[in-house]
Amino acid sequence: MSAPRARWVIGNWKMNGNRSANAALVKALVAGVSAGGAAHDRRPRVAVCPPVIYAAQVGELIAGTTIRLGAQDVCAHPEGAYTGQISTTMLGEFGVSVVLVGHSERRSMNGERDEDVAAKVRAALGAGLNTVVCVGETLAERDRGEAEHVVGRQIDAVIPALAAHPGGVLIAYEPVWAIGTGRTATVEVAQGMHQFIRERLAAGSAALHATPILYGGSVKAANAAALARAPDIDGALVGGASLVANEFLGIVDAFTPQA
Ligand code: 13P
Repeated sequence: MSAPRARWVIGNWKMNGNRSANAALVKALVAGVSAGGAAHDRRPRVAVCPPVIYAAQVGELIAGTTIRLGAQDVCAHPEGAYTGQISTTMLGEFGVSVVLVGHSERRSMNGERDEDVAAKVRAALGAGLNTVVCVGETLAERDRGEAEHVVGRQIDAVIPALAAHPGGVLIAYEPVWAIGTGRTATVEVAQGMHQFIRERLAAGSAALHATPILYGGSVKAANAAALARAPDIDGALVGGASLVANEFLGIVDAFTPQA
């Protein structure tokens, strides 16, 4: 039997936080994640992705704990004339080991296309980062019956990059209509798309069969347990609820398997 897939709960703080709020939030997360007795060993991997300017601050606060440090984006290029961008090497210098790539807000607000996402994925995986490739359809695409077509296209665009470093790959399925709307996909819809993604990955490269696939979009402590029971949902990428310690810790608990 193959080893169980790794589970992950990742907080995407987006453009939220400040030095004092970050300190209070991370202090509560560290206390919560460090507690837990026997359940501690079964915990999912936990990461937080603050705005990158706070990476050093948050890195210091989580030093020596199991919480990993993430970034919300990365530049595809190693160095040079890329105003405002941050390289994989720079992230690594500050202890960042997880990076989100192709978040729908970057696709829609920053014009990132599938090929841009693929280039970032290549750079991030090549640098040894755990790389979370975000995919998902808009409401209009779903209403037109194109959800699998769109997500399949987004997955296919990154397959060659993923296949080169399968061990560092994570996928996050975040239907755009469920992000920040309070409207979570039903467990059936999420599970169905996760299964589709898993099959698409395996069709692209057999080495990707153990890829963790996280769900994102209005995940809260109250709906996480039902999502966690679905066979192909291996964790959560959490926006709004990751800014509230008890909510985020509740989601971590929901993805901690029973003994
Ligand atoms: P919300 O949890 O706020 O819906 O955001 C989801 C998301 O976009 C995480 O990357």
